[in-house]
Parts: sequence; structure tokens; C-alpha cells
Amino acid sequence: MLPPLDMLECPVCRSPLAAEGGTLRCGEGHAFDVARHGYVNLLGGGAAAGTADTAEMVTAREAFLGARHYEYIAEALAAAIAGAVRGSTAPRVLDVGAGSGYYLAAVLDRMPAAAGLALDISKYAARRAARVHPHASAVVCDAWDRLPVADCSASAVMSVFAPRNPAEFSRVLAKDGIVVTVTPTPRHLAELIDAIGLISVDDRKDERLETSLGEHFAREASRPLEAVMTLGHADVAALVGMGPSARHIVHAEREARIARLPDPVTVTASVNVAVWRRSQP
Ligand SMILES: C[S@@+](CC[C@H](N)C(=O)[O-])C[C@H]1O[C@@H](n2cnc3c(N)ncnc32)[C@H](O)[C@@H]1O
Ligand SMILES: [Zn+2]
Repeated sequence: MLPPLDMLECPVCRSPLAAEGGTLRCGEGHAFDVARHGYVNLLGGGAAAGTADTAEMVTAREAFLGARHYEYIAEALAAAIAGAVRGSTAPRVLDVGAGSGYYLAAVLDRMPAAAGLALDISKYAARRAARVHPHASAVVCDAWDRLPVADCSASAVMSVFAPRNPAEFSRVLAKDGIVVTVTPTPRHLAELIDAIGLISVDDRKDERLETSLGEHFAREASRPLEAVMTLGHADVAALVGMGPSARHIVHAEREARIARLPDPVTVTASVNVAVWRRSQP
């Protein structure tokens, strides 16, 4: 579906956008085509960041998430958002760094009156997210730039294992809106960090989250979630292939390291789901 147009702004001049056939256009004449795959590219001219997920990473992510290993995280996130969004009969949920849109779909399933907008710098991710749910749409943009999203237009902003831009979250969020974050703890995937050489989560991640979001938001709730997964080698390959380590360890070396693991292998998943509300409404 097309993104809710009142949520968007032109990335060039910040005017509202209107739909004309398969194109979004602002009053100044800047035009953005809706791609055949259903997403809109509003990347403000710049090239996609090197952090964009590749087609292979998105395929790996869909395979791993599709096997429901993180379903309880999606459910906790959806419950947190549904429970904390107030004051809107038609909530707008913005997922920044949405990937394939798996978590956004879980939220939209829980909130039938809501519309969801997935933002990601990867067109491969946006392609999947645009089709992930009947009430979801997707836009390609850079989370470190000004988002092509109107002021105060989101009831909730979600950030799941993804880049966070607190000043922009604050600008686009409705006055009574919430931010919900899912972040890994240092125990996340610990068994694979040494065995495969995955990038580890730094011990001060939570402190850094508090410092960066804390400038604009206060933590209202925090829910630790931890589970031990039993993963076959194909699951491990998908898990490694969807994460940042996929860029650093060449494919053949990854496969060799996975082959040396027990099959199946037990791996800990450990995250925090936190709800943040504006400190000064
Ligand atoms: C670890 S993945 C998480 C995806 C999704 N939230 C999930 O958990 O399934 C991080 C996502 O952020 C996107 N990303 C990386 N840099 C970005 C940027 N500068 N702006 C927007 N998205 C970005 C990647 O393309 C990728 O889809
Ligand atoms: Zn414009």
C-alpha cells in the first residue's frame, strides 16, 4: 500500500507529498516514483550507506525470522506498543531500520486500526517490508539524515536492532507518542561470538542507549527477554548471514566455522524491550 501521505514530507524541500498515479509529488515539483515492488525511494540524493543490508542479508533475515526463533520478541514488542500508545483511534507506527518488516507486521497484527511505515536504507529490505502486511508501507531513506517524515506524525517509533536517531525520533513523534527499542544485551548470541567470530555487544550498550535517548525521552518500562535456542546449522548460517558479521567474515570461512559447531547447537538470545516517553511533553 502507499505510505500514509500525511506522514511524509518531500526530502528536498520538506513540503507535503501527494500521489499522482505511480508518483509522489510535492508542490515544488519534486517527484518520486513508487517502485514496482511497492516502496518509495526518498533517499535525499545521497548514495545508500555501506550499512544497508544486502539482498543476501535480507534473505537470511527472512529465513531466520520466518522460523519463528524470535517470535516471543515480536510478541513482547507488539504488546508493549499496543499497551502504551494512547490518544489515537488510528495509530501510526514508524519502524526505523525495519529490515524485512517482520516486527512491524507483528505490531500491525496486534493493532488492527493502525497503519505502519517501514523505513530502511536497503531497497531489498524495503521491498519485503512494503508487502509484509496489508497495513504496511515502506520508504527508503537514511536514518542518520532528516527523515522524510512530517513533524509529530507518528504515534509510536520502533527501533529493533537498528540505528537510532533520537533527535529525529523526537521530531516525528506525536506529543503523547512513544519510542520502543529492542536492543541486544552482552549475553546475546554469546556462544557464537567466540566460535564464529561474531561482533560482540559492548558491555555499556544499555548505558549508551540511556544517554542517547535520554536527551529527549525517559524510560517508562524495560523488559529483559532471554531464551536458549536450539539451532541447526542452517539456522546458524541464516543468523550469522543476517547480522553485521556477514560483512566481515567471508562466506567460505563462515561455513567452515559453522561446520565445526555441534549440530544442533544451543545459543542464547538476550534482549531488552524498552518503552520511552518524551521527558517534556
Ligand atoms: C540488524 S538489521 C534489523 C532489521 C529489523 N529491525 C529486524 O530486526 O529484523 C538493521 C537494519 O537497519 C538498516 N540500516 C542500516 N543503516 C541504516 C541507515 N543509515 N538508515 C536506515 N536504515 C539503516 C539495514 O539495512 C537493516 O535492515
Ligand atoms: Zn519538494
